[in-house]
Amino acid sequence: MEQAVKYIQEQIKDFKPQIGIILGSGLGDFADEHCSMVIPYKDIPGFENSNVKGHKGQLVFAEINGKNVVMMQGRYHFYEGHSMKTVTYPVKVMRKLGVETLIITNAAGAVDGSFIPGELMFITDHINFMGTNPLIGLNDDSLGTRFPDMSEVYSKDLIDMAEDTAEALSVEYQKGVYVATTGPSYESPAEIRMFRMLGADAVGMSTVPEAIVAKWAGMNVLGISCLTNYAAGISDSPLNHQEVIETANRVKENFKKLLAELIKKI
Ligand code: HPA
Repeated sequence: MEQAVKYIQEQIKDFKPQIGIILGSGLGDFADEHCSMVIPYKDIPGFENSNVKGHKGQLVFAEINGKNVVMMQGRYHFYEGHSMKTVTYPVKVMRKLGVETLIITNAAGAVDGSFIPGELMFITDHINFMGTNPLIGLNDDSLGTRFPDMSEVYSKDLIDMAEDTAEALSVEYQKGVYVATTGPSYESPAEIRMFRMLGADAVGMSTVPEAIVAKWAGMNVLGISCLTNYAAGISDSPLNHQEVIETANRVKENFKKLLAELIKKI
């Protein structure tokens, strides 16, 4: 980790990122528009090569609306076979670089049938249904404690700020609970009914590991889901990745506007 931080600092010199953003499926564009420096993951000590279609796999640094931002253009997914350590390592590195606020974005399926694909959902809480925890193993006391509190993973203040911003921009949004599964298969209708009973509003295959680690490491976290489809069984149509990408593409202009405004306010 020290090597990774040192390597990145050598590249970015006196640029000190305050805000980190993990850009989810179909939302990576934001980094292209605000980009002053790029470091491919493959060049950073400890980062694995990432190889999902539509994910570039690089850190992008930029000053946006007066704030220093580091963006992950592409993230590591557990379903790719990466360990939880690999999935969450970039969050730890961002923290060591000085990032205090982390915005985590994703594409998710709507478990609440009143939600409409194309809407954004601000994550109020999560259910970790991945069957493991990214903090298992030796605790790194330099980042956080052994048994970290998770009663407010997603900062209420940031959610308020996100709501105000969305309203000002007339962007449709919801708030709700995100349940994380490992994937890569989508859920069965019976699983979605179960998740609904358990209190979930949206389902996806990411975000929760990164959010747990960010909270543990003392960061303020905002989670934004782009609801790309109805979860299995909520509507009659079968699920496919193409639909996820198409909806994310349709929403991304609003999403980018919202992010830029939020950055200004944070
Ligand atoms: N399920 C899981 N992950 C997802 C979905 C879904 O319906 N949509 C986008 N990511």
